[in-house]
Amino acid sequence: MRIPLLDLAAQMDTIRDEVVPALMAVVESQRFIMGEAVQQLEEAVAQYCGTEHGIACASGTDALFLSLKTLDLEPGDEVITSPFTFFATAGAICNAGGTPVFVDVDPTTFNLSIDAVSNAIGDRTRAIVPVHLFGQMAPMEALTALADRHGFAIIEDAAQAIGAKRDVDGEWIRAGKLGTTGAFSFFPSKNLGGWGDGGMIVTDDADRAARLRMLRVHGGAKQYHHEEVGVNSRLDTVQAAVLLAKLGHLDEWNAARRGHAGAYTEALRGIAGVVPPVADPANEHIYHQYTIRAQRRDSLKAHLAERGVGSAVYYPQCLHLQPCFAYLGYREGDLPEAEQASREVLSLPVYPELTVDQRQFVMDGVREFYA
Ligand SMILES: Cc1ncc(COP(=O)(O)O)c(C=O)c1O
Repeated sequence: MRIPLLDLAAQMDTIRDEVVPALMAVVESQRFIMGEAVQQLEEAVAQYCGTEHGIACASGTDALFLSLKTLDLEPGDEVITSPFTFFATAGAICNAGGTPVFVDVDPTTFNLSIDAVSNAIGDRTRAIVPVHLFGQMAPMEALTALADRHGFAIIEDAAQAIGAKRDVDGEWIRAGKLGTTGAFSFFPSKNLGGWGDGGMIVTDDADRAARLRMLRVHGGAKQYHHEEVGVNSRLDTVQAAVLLAKLGHLDEWNAARRGHAGAYTEALRGIAGVVPPVADPANEHIYHQYTIRAQRRDSLKAHLAERGVGSAVYYPQCLHLQPCFAYLGYREGDLPEAEQASREVLSLPVYPELTVDQRQFVMDGVREFYA
């Protein structure tokens, strides 16, 4: 049996009849830039997240970058973030003029440690970028309390977490709602993925939304008139049409992922050498990744590959140790939880269309390895 880490062809079989006509409608309209579907998607995603505004852009990276641009960072301004994330999180901070301050993660959820964030807050702290890693939200209530007390912004990196929820004072709140802005990625492998690159910013702040709409088209509300220097970061109408057609399936897909995750965790319980992922009870996890900690991780990965089972290491090298951040002066051992996670994690197939037999085959492979 061959089981890839993600099987987008299996998803395509279930949505072809909806997505292809939506795509062809754009082709027939020939309105490839800022066509109707873009605004429709902005409204639909904002409504889905419970926010006032949605601003589509060209990628999740740009959703972070443009959000950070609205903070008008000055040289030396610090932005606290996680070292255990995709590079874009920190790259966007630098490109927006900030200095990333990496702090350690909570070893149970891999999300930012609140104590570590508290200890890193200083005179130059302007923002935090929490990453809702693998599809479960960071403890936003604790972060927003810190942000309110110290007067800085929160840009949620929700690239992996569209639809994830957190129980805050008895109310389930979706990723993207509690921050100054929330940034989503529609990269094809995401839980809501386009047929190319794409991203979205959500916010309740009308002024910031208006500025973001300008920044994504070279900083001008009116054509050939520029208030400030922005970038070209529009979402293609084609992507918007595909994403709109898929959005209606997102909750059912996320629920299917949760079902697979529950079954995996049950099956892994008795296996020494593996620690299944932990969902914070305050979270509704959407399992963008089902990520275990594994002893002899690289050998397990090779064993699974031999059986035809795909897996991946997200992320093999922490950001504070990347060559491009050497100037920040971090050393190996500075952020031990993140570093240990990078040596132990392995993500297993958890896409919605996975069958019970496929799931069983993955678990048999893990069990066989540790037997
Ligand atoms: C945590 C995180 N942040 C940011 C991004 C950037 O998104 P994109 O690839 O759409 O630019 C990604 C996606 O790859 C991600 O996983």
